[in-house]
Amino acid sequence: MTQDELKALVGQAALQYVVPGAVVGVGTGSTVNCFIDALAMMKDRIAGAVSSSVKSTERLQAHGITVLDANQVDSLPVYIDGADEIDHRGYMIKGGGAALTREKIVADLAASFVCIADASKLVDTLGAFPLPVEVIPMAAAQVARRFHSAFGGQARVREGVVTDNGNLILDVRGLKISDPLALETEVNQWPGVVTVGVFARHKASVCLLGTPDGVKTLRF
Ligand code: 5RP
Repeated sequence: MTQDELKALVGQAALQYVVPGAVVGVGTGSTVNCFIDALAMMKDRIAGAVSSSVKSTERLQAHGITVLDANQVDSLPVYIDGADEIDHRGYMIKGGGAALTREKIVADLAASFVCIADASKLVDTLGAFPLPVEVIPMAAAQVARRFHSAFGGQARVREGVVTDNGNLILDVRGLKISDPLALETEVNQWPGVVTVGVFARHKASVCLLGTPDGVKTLRF
């Protein structure tokens, strides 16, 4: 099976976690695009979606799915999103699509986080994928220096990318994140950091992993 076929498989499998009659939280990326396309088949059985990016909003609306503002809901039963890496504890690196801030906001509203990913995303230790960090533009150089002195990583501004919130993305290479919760907590306190792409406080509850043998369900 190709990687795209595995993404389609988990996108379809995620439908079983969508609660009929409720609003569903929707992430961003190519795997989520497969989920959105599958969700269109049950659009008359949900109350709508809260989306984590302009791109996902446009795709949902193109399918005729109502998109609600995050401020219109008190909570969500479930948030469904992809990941750039996920470890065996459900901790993730996210933000390859630059949508990490809104992704964390929608995940925060949700009672459970269902991660959908192809098998290549499962890792023992987070950090081979460059860690995305959304920063206020004037803080980019200072946050990059701080990463180097605190964790030894090399941070570079992602060329030509401005987030949906008008900020920059730093991609930090050379990290081995053995304690995701500690790194997330520390980096969150640096002035100018909007969101760090480690999802430890908002880790996955479940991961639907697309493998050549079918969908494996990992529970954390
Ligand atoms: C976007 C994300 C995505 O979930 C992540 O990049 C995975 O994307 P894809 O499903 O295309 O591999 O965090 O900001």
